[in-house]
Amino acid sequence: MQKDPPFVVWLTGLSGSGKTTLAKKLYTFLQRKRIPSVIVDGDEVRKTISQDLGFSKRDIGKNHRRVRSLVTSHLTKGKNVIVSIISPSARVRATARKKFPRFVEIFCDCPVSVCMRRDPKGHYRNVKNGTMKNFIGIHSIYEKPKNPELILHTNRENPMQSLKKIKEILKKRCYI
Ligand SMILES: Nc1ncnc2c1ncn2[C@@H]1O[C@H](COP(=O)(O)OP(=O)(O)OP(=O)(O)O)[C@@H](O)[C@H]1O
Ligand SMILES: [Mg+2]
Repeated sequence: MQKDPPFVVWLTGLSGSGKTTLAKKLYTFLQRKRIPSVIVDGDEVRKTISQDLGFSKRDIGKNHRRVRSLVTSHLTKGKNVIVSIISPSARVRATARKKFPRFVEIFCDCPVSVCMRRDPKGHYRNVKNGTMKNFIGIHSIYEKPKNPELILHTNRENPMQSLKKIKEILKKRCYI
């Protein structure tokens, strides 16, 4: 049983960089250890609490506020939260860092060329054929984290190697 206040692991990176893959692996690991946790995934949020929102600046702001509220509500219930969301804005990530005292920012660093090749959801194909506009990393900027707690080069390591590094940082921080 975890006695300390719950923590937030914030996975950021381009689409296809590995956030959801690693969030699920971390979740499974924590479950096995009986450490209560929950995933707040960008896609899931868009399909549920933010299904009414689009991608205007205003709506993106609203979406992030809702994500923060959802994270807070899980923390209040004693659950550690794994956030897997592109979160291209440094300001948005800084706001989260300020709000959540036990916070680890993990940058899934992967060249866009590799993300394009992976294309797990077919988004990059749609970018190429012009049916997807305003795509982060192609048409709009992804602001790379300057001082994340961890950088994972997901193009050079497999998911299990990346997970090992996440576990190490959580142990080093005495979060697990
Ligand atoms: N070290 C690694 N960590 C995570 N994923 C990896 C790694 N190496 C290869 N991959 C592969 O990269 C792909 C990443 O897809 P994933 O859906 O996790 O990306 P994502 O960052 O969640 O994208 P999106 O923002 O569109 O949701 C998967 O097919 C995964 O198997
Ligand atoms: Mg994802």
